[in-house]
Formats: sequence, C-alpha cells, structure tokens
Amino acid sequence: MSTEWLTAGNDGAIAPNDVQRCDIGDATYAVVKTGDGRCFVIDGLCTHGKAHLADGFVDGDVIECPKHNGRFNVVTGAAIATPARVAVRSYETRVRDGVVEFRVG
Ligand code: FES
Repeated sequence: MSTEWLTAGNDGAIAPNDVQRCDIGDATYAVVKTGDGRCFVIDGLCTHGKAHLADGFVDGDVIECPKHNGRFNVVTGAAIATPARVAVRSYETRVRDGVVEFRVG
C-alpha cells in the first residue's frame, strides 16, 4: 500500500464549488474544491454508471453526477442521493505550497 503523496493539481486553478479531473496512469480522480475552499480528491468515476464526476456540479461539500444526478459527500465519499448508492473513495488530501496532493494508501 503506497503512502506516497501524489500531485492532483494546482490549488489556485480550482475555484470554490468547482471540480477538476486528474488522471494518473489508468486511474481517474476528481479534485473538488468545496464552497469554503477546502480541497478533496475522490474517485473520478461515479459508482452508478461510471460517468466522470469532474463533469459534475459542486455545491458546498456535495458533488452531483452529471449523468443521473446522483450525489456524493466529497468529505466522506458517501452516496447521499439516488440513483448512486455506493460510496466513492475520498482520499487523504492536503495543499502544500499551492499544490493539491493526495495519497491512496
Ligand atoms: S452515472 Fe452517476 S448517477 Fe448514474
């Protein structure tokens, strides 16, 4: 299990209530900035129908899938609105020197 911090993007490039896609190898992540400016990295694909959550909409701590409007809490990853029923992973995330970093371990 890796404890290495991975780079997800630049903090300044993401506005509050917005999301950016981050691809590393074969994995896809969504880098979310909440309404109050906190960053969270979550799995990039919706657990319902594999839509890219980076194409979704952020409101506060919640991201809404662009395909069928399922919703996830970005802090916990919990699915909070159907048709999404299975959580995404929300990874340990930090911002250092303006760079958003996360680790999957
Ligand atoms: S693909 Fe996300 S709710 Fe269906």
